[in-house]
Amino acid sequence: MAKKLSIKDIAKELNVSITTVSFVLNGRAKEKRISEELTQKVLDLVKQTDYKPNIFARGLRTGKTKTIGLIVENIANHFFATIARLIEEYAYSKGYKIIYCSTDNDVQKTRELIGMLKERNVDGLIITPSAGIEDLLTGMQESNLPFVLFDRHLPGIKADYVVVDSFKGAYLATAHLLEKGYNKVAIITTDSKQSQMADRLNGYKSAVKELGDKNLIGRINFSSSPAEAVMAIKTFLEAHPEVNGIFFATNYLAAYGLEAITNLNFSIGDKIGIVAFDDEQLFRIYRPTITAVSQPIDAMAKKVIEILLSRMENKTKTLDEIVLQPELVERMSTKRK
Ligand code: RIB
Repeated sequence: MAKKLSIKDIAKELNVSITTVSFVLNGRAKEKRISEELTQKVLDLVKQTDYKPNIFARGLRTGKTKTIGLIVENIANHFFATIARLIEEYAYSKGYKIIYCSTDNDVQKTRELIGMLKERNVDGLIITPSAGIEDLLTGMQESNLPFVLFDRHLPGIKADYVVVDSFKGAYLATAHLLEKGYNKVAIITTDSKQSQMADRLNGYKSAVKELGDKNLIGRINFSSSPAEAVMAIKTFLEAHPEVNGIFFATNYLAAYGLEAITNLNFSIGDKIGIVAFDDEQLFRIYRPTITAVSQPIDAMAKKVIEILLSRMENKTKTLDEIVLQPELVERMSTKRK
């Protein structure tokens, strides 16, 4: 079997420095003003010789693997998938690659994933944390493995985080429904204790206290299957015929809710007003279009990478606890004729 080429062999073959070859292989040729001609020569030789960088050797030598672990709740969820794509783009522009995986909010799975990423010597992690991993995160702080929490934080952990103001987003959604005349507004949320879900419930309660009359709370078991969630929402609405406005506390709950409302033949906009937390294409193409609380996902992705890189390069001393602003996007699902 042909000897595996090293980065040193490639540099020798082309009579250039190892550093030059490394910059080309890490997508930093333009940034380092390496000519397109030389860049192509390196890439051609790599292709001809089927060179595979030894990520571990590089990590052992430089202490850097130029990789970042991104652990989210569910990689298939539209919100996480969209923001993960942006995080990947910003990371790649800085010469880092992403390893992307899901926790399903399962503590054991989260532990296994963090263990796997530590074995692969990632240079840093971005995590949507599930409760119960506080000891892991404390251990990472003690061993100087940089990480940033996003979408939610853990009360017991003093760490960098980037979240949206979920309280304000839920307040805006509920107040909008009440001000539009939907005077019996329910919230459909999950039974999880995560910080962002607690903030959304409290934002809903605050708006009802100021502008409405009583709380109507539908809690869906987080581990429900889609069919079980649709059924649970349908059952809640049948048990509360007075409800004429619904605030769905996440995108996937809103999608399940639309299916339940369709089964109940409710007229959205007239009989019942709808607002979803999170904006996505489904709510723009659905008829009627769905009013939504939009999260600033581009700003969140940029901020997460900026904070993590600063932490990885030891430039940060104080904690970054970033709370970004949501935006209410009004559409036809809250327009009474
Ligand atoms: O499914 C994604 C939703 O749950 C978003 O609202 C995100 O903030 C997460 O909490």
